[in-house]
Amino acid sequence: MIDHGSILVTGAAGFIGSNFIRYILSSDPKARIVSLDLLTYAGSLQNIRDLPDESRHTFIQGDIADAELVEKILREHKIGTIVNFAAESHVDRSITAPGAFVQTNIVGTFTLLEAARNVWDGHFDKCRFLHVSTDEVYGTLGPDDPAFSETTPYAPNSPYAASKASSDHLVRAYHETYALPTLTTNCSNNYGEYQYPEKLIPLMIINALTGKQLPVYGDGAQVRDWLYVEDHCSAIATVICRGRVGETYNIGGMMEEKNIEIVHLICDILDRIRRSPTGESYRSQITHVEDRPGHDRRYAMDITKIREELGWSPKESFESGLMKTIRWYLDNQTWVNSVMSENYDEWIALNYSSRQEISSQ
Ligand code: NAD
Ligand code: DAU
Repeated sequence: MIDHGSILVTGAAGFIGSNFIRYILSSDPKARIVSLDLLTYAGSLQNIRDLPDESRHTFIQGDIADAELVEKILREHKIGTIVNFAAESHVDRSITAPGAFVQTNIVGTFTLLEAARNVWDGHFDKCRFLHVSTDEVYGTLGPDDPAFSETTPYAPNSPYAASKASSDHLVRAYHETYALPTLTTNCSNNYGEYQYPEKLIPLMIINALTGKQLPVYGDGAQVRDWLYVEDHCSAIATVICRGRVGETYNIGGMMEEKNIEIVHLICDILDRIRRSPTGESYRSQITHVEDRPGHDRRYAMDITKIREELGWSPKESFESGLMKTIRWYLDNQTWVNSVMSENYDEWIALNYSSRQEISSQ
């Protein structure tokens, strides 16, 4: 149970933020949540419909970089806990247009930190600021390197990763300089319900079902460490309740896999549960396309600290999590149609039509 006042969840209409609200409202009967989200292309009110016990939740549309608004929310709603999910989150978009990443991820986080410092002045002991970050701040691993730990030096390679690393440094500095009660979590790749279909897993599911190509970047041998989104939510709740202020905690799924293997698994599950009308395996839609510039080869998280200190470890197996996810996308066509707007088509055209095909299989 989170006992640090009302909770402000930023980025609450996005993928992980919306799952987090659902998780907290159903697991903590006393929690009151205020959501703040700008509703960019990645945020949708559809993601926070039908919440358990809606009376304990208030939604506000706005920008985390709007200092006046943020301070007003902290004061009026007596916020004691901030969980900062709000971000530009997609690596490919950060390569095409990095400006928004600097604005939201760096300036936005700075604005939240300043507001918390002002409004919480004099009662830091009763408050918590949890900043949600990523394993991408650590850069890339070679095939035999040990997994990233909390002491691995930062070496971000994409504008997205650099903007998250900057925000992590600001959070750290606000603790060291002002004793703001901060916590930072760095997590690996999430998958699950309500993920915007620009990310690998939902994009492949939707492209497969609509008869489109399955665009694998480069040789597809890049490795990611996959975590089911509900496990990420439970890890964040654990860190808020029991984490040591000023610390950072790595979160991961202990589930390293090559991208091409993930795509094969999705095709094989769909072949079993929703055969293609062509009669061919969905694998026939796989196409290798030009790689992402600066593409990190491997991520893996060492979760010893959160496991030994706070007793958290992932619960969902990848097989069952992926099956649940695929079934959710099959059963939620209305949601899929609503988020795949004009903006979505524009993005797909921009990102994929410029990539040369390397080979198909
Ligand atoms: P997402 O893109 O699905 O959602 C981001 C949300 O933030 C959207 O609802 C968007 O409208 C909102 N937002 C964007 N700019 C805003 C602003 N200026 N003010 C207020 N709201 C704004 O992202 P996600 O995948 O849910 O990621 C959430 C957080 O978790 C991010 O900070 C991301 O860096 C981090 N993270 C994500 C993953 C992952 O695999 N998806 C893994 C580790 C960490
Ligand atoms: O590691 C945590 C990070 O995971 C989060 O911080 C980011 O917010 C989140 O977007 C995610 O970043 P990735 O770049 O790893 O996720 P994405 O789903 O974009 O890509 C996963 C892998 O799949 C990556 O190696 C690139 C590859 N890929 C992706 C797409 C969209 C493809 O091969 N083809 C594609 O079409």
